[in-house]
Amino acid sequence: MKMNIPITKTIFGKEEEEAIIKPLESGWVVQGPNVAKFQDMFSKFTGAKYSHATTSCTTALHLGLEAMGITKGDKVIVPSFTYVASANSVEYTGAEVVFCDIDLKTFNIDETKLEKIIKNDSSIKAIMPVHLFGLCSNIPYIMKLAKKYNLKIIEDSACGFDGWIGDKHSGTFGDVGCFSFHPRKSICTGEGGMLITNDETIASIVSQLKDHGASKSDLQRHKEKGGSLLPDFTMRGYNYRMTDMQGALGVCQMNKKDYIMNGRREVASKYNIALKNISQLITPYIPENYKHGFQSYVCIFTDDEDISNLTKEQIDRINIKRNIFMEKLEENTIATRQGTHAVHTLGYYKDKNSFKDEDFLMSYAADRLSIALPLYAGMSDEEFEYTISNIKEALK
Ligand SMILES: Cc1ncc(COP(=O)(O)O)c(C=O)c1O
Repeated sequence: MKMNIPITKTIFGKEEEEAIIKPLESGWVVQGPNVAKFQDMFSKFTGAKYSHATTSCTTALHLGLEAMGITKGDKVIVPSFTYVASANSVEYTGAEVVFCDIDLKTFNIDETKLEKIIKNDSSIKAIMPVHLFGLCSNIPYIMKLAKKYNLKIIEDSACGFDGWIGDKHSGTFGDVGCFSFHPRKSICTGEGGMLITNDETIASIVSQLKDHGASKSDLQRHKEKGGSLLPDFTMRGYNYRMTDMQGALGVCQMNKKDYIMNGRREVASKYNIALKNISQLITPYIPENYKHGFQSYVCIFTDDEDISNLTKEQIDRINIKRNIFMEKLEENTIATRQGTHAVHTLGYYKDKNSFKDEDFLMSYAADRLSIALPLYAGMSDEEFEYTISNIKEALK
């Protein structure tokens, strides 16, 4: 009998149902007490001094870049294998994106390629390392480069919730870290994002920028005497505020983060064991002292070929087989996805820069050969066994 196995599942229950109604009853539906509580809980968990909730990770990235002073004429290094939003957020500021290829083993920016790029271009003002699928990039090394070349660091930690190096949470290494609470992420508020920083000046700019540039938030104004007068607007800001219903969801999700994350890690460990002797798939790599957040469980499909010296022809050949493999799983109602995309191959960036697929070959390989397997807390043994036996069957 066929089972329906989604790529992921949001973990919402009675707690969320009850909490989301409270702002409707009180009438305070824009950022208010629930958003404030969610921000506090996020700071406590990550160890960041300041947390600012936003409408999405994309808007958090935009705010972070602008608060760090990134503007027209500047360039920002972004890995070429990431979700398109990383690059788009740089473009919003008027700055230019400079792509850097990735390391196929980790799916993260290839830090060994960074120094050459930085040395050759004095317009580079910042790096945006992405902690893809929940695994931190080599951010300690990137921070050393940032110091040497006086660069700003904004961590795209959209997928990085509960991802650590030692006792440091993703997003707390650089000047700014940004998270996503989209349904594909481990904790979810519908849409939603969070910007964290230890820098008081950045935090204060972000708090104003996300609220139209207002020098005082609505909640502050309502609590104070003379609240009928509007505050000054000292910056050209945006409306990137999270609603208090989303804040309420965020609080509930933080309360059940142990269940969600333990559940995800448990399924990841089961995959590691079950796929150990499957030579067509390479399972996720975790460097020593790193704790993977497992926003996704992403393998490389090799079709049992040696991929240590990949060419475009070999990637294209294996890609056809990967897609057939994915289709076979889909026929059995098991959802899979490519990990994410090689941004330099997407129409807008490709046309703008006349990129060829092979300009960032490892990103191209990751795009064409990666496969994310279903992963969610509460995946039953039956669901897991159904998934694994179909994977094995499809690979025969
Ligand atoms: C690496 C990365 N960056 C940024 C984003 C954008 O996040 P959001 O949808 O919250 O704007 C995503 C979302 O998929 C992502 O995976």
